Amino acid sequence: MRQKTSIFLILGLLAALAGCEEDLSRKTDAELGLNAQQARGRRVYQVHCASCHSAYTTSSSKGPTMKGLYRKQYLPSGLVANDRFVEDAIVKGRRMMPALGGAMSQQDLADLVAYLHTL
Ligand code: HEC
Repeated sequence: MRQKTSIFLILGLLAALAGCEEDLSRKTDAELGLNAQQARGRRVYQVHCASCHSAYTTSSSKGPTMKGLYRKQYLPSGLVANDRFVEDAIVKGRRMMPALGGAMSQQDLADLVAYLHTL
């Protein structure tokens, strides 16, 4: 009886772990619980950022992951993780990060930042 219980526990644990590995990038906006603005921001992200940054895994691509960007106190550069410094990095670039301000409207930027807050 005891052994059975532990087998179920292990199976449960494995299922939970598998859940963590789920590829959230394949989920729809609705499944991710994004509102209209965040969903528009996700499109902007896919066009301008996804080639260099992962959104849902902690692995670095050409640039650092955006997962949990605002959940940490500091950005990878050491600046405080707030809208001012994030927008600044996007618009003017930062070190190896190219400036992308010219590639998007003020509305795109606002939508993008709203989306980054969901990561
Ligand atoms: C051509 C590749 C490339 C693209 C496209 C790109 N980035 Fe980056 N990004 C980088 C690199 C490389 C860094 C690391 C910069 C460094 O520290 O040298 C970075 C750093 C960052 C940082 C951290 C800044 C800090 O202060 O630590 C943020 C936030 C960021 N990028 C957001 C974005 C967003 C949002 C987009 C889309 C609008 C984007 N990036 C598009 C390459 C890119």
